[in-house]
Amino acid sequence: MNGPLTVADYEALARDKLDDNAWEYIRGGAGDETTLRENVEAFTRWKLRPRVLCDVGNVDTRTTVLGTEIASPVLVAPVALQKLAHVDGEAATARAAAAARTIMCVSTSATLRPAAVAAAAADAALWLQVYVFNDRGVTQGLIDEACTNGYSALVLTVDTPLLGRREGAVRIGFHIPDDFEVAGDIFNDLSANVTWRDLDWLAGHGLPVVLKGVLTADDARLAVEHGAAAVVVSNHGGRQLDGVPASIDALPEVVDAVAGRAEVLLDGGVRRGIDVVRSLALGARAVLVGRAAVWGLAAAGEEGVRRVLDLLQKEVALGLALLGCTSPAEVTRAHVALSPWKS
Ligand code: FNR
Repeated sequence: MNGPLTVADYEALARDKLDDNAWEYIRGGAGDETTLRENVEAFTRWKLRPRVLCDVGNVDTRTTVLGTEIASPVLVAPVALQKLAHVDGEAATARAAAAARTIMCVSTSATLRPAAVAAAAADAALWLQVYVFNDRGVTQGLIDEACTNGYSALVLTVDTPLLGRREGAVRIGFHIPDDFEVAGDIFNDLSANVTWRDLDWLAGHGLPVVLKGVLTADDARLAVEHGAAAVVVSNHGGRQLDGVPASIDALPEVVDAVAGRAEVLLDGGVRRGIDVVRSLALGARAVLVGRAAVWGLAAAGEEGVRRVLDLLQKEVALGLALLGCTSPAEVTRAHVALSPWKS
């Protein structure tokens, strides 16, 4: 069989399809891209410790996130400007997420309005990712639209008071195509004055609030104190502060600090089902995929995103079984160790 089998295969297909402007925007990271690389490499240092003879004849990858059942512990991360990847943009991704029975997090900087994404995929479970703009009316308008269109959570991205400097994009003169309609101006109008008080304002809209971009125990505790329903351990896919740890390496610290008071999710560098399994072992409830989903979108639109989500689900199922687990809930800290193995 010659078709794409892995996330890496979809990355290669995406590279072939996209022009340099789109490719570099999606690929790139901040600064020297050390964190971008680390996100992927760090997973390989966490070794799996399988148990044997566990009867894994019946593996079920389903779980819940904030009360929503999903087919496997893999959600779609907020990724801006999806029409760069495919003409159908966020509509295709939402339909694919719905077909794969998972949650899509729609970016503030989507190329379709929140209402249009919801209309394109009536049965999709959607969360809205929020950036706070200096022009607060823009942010408020997006939130109101999400609230009236059935979105089920607000995800405040907290690692972006300013946009990181992605030098690859600067070098090629990255530009947003003129015909894209994007709410707010992430390049010039992000509010650098955001504080914990804004979290209280966000929570006032009645939807659960998820804090995306937490990397330390101190901030994890503050997030819980301010009522966050979940935190996402994330470094924005290496696109914000270069030099921060890989998400998987920051996860244990955050999980310990949260101590079960909120759900902990992770994104950054997830390319394989075993990366999902490693994240579960270190205490994440689920992961989000950014680039992996967008590579699928670039390669084959809705069908491509669907196939990436399906292949990850199958890899998770196989990983669980070979680890000796029949469900995400059975994966524990005892199933991983930093290399070299010590137990
Ligand atoms: C992102 N990410 C992001 N995050 C966010 O909160 N709002 C956004 O608009 C975007 N936009 C965006 C565009 C592109 C092209 C990428 C690659 C990423 C970050 C994203 O949600 C997630 O944190 C990372 O993508 C996770 O890393 P991986 O899965 O790409 O390795």
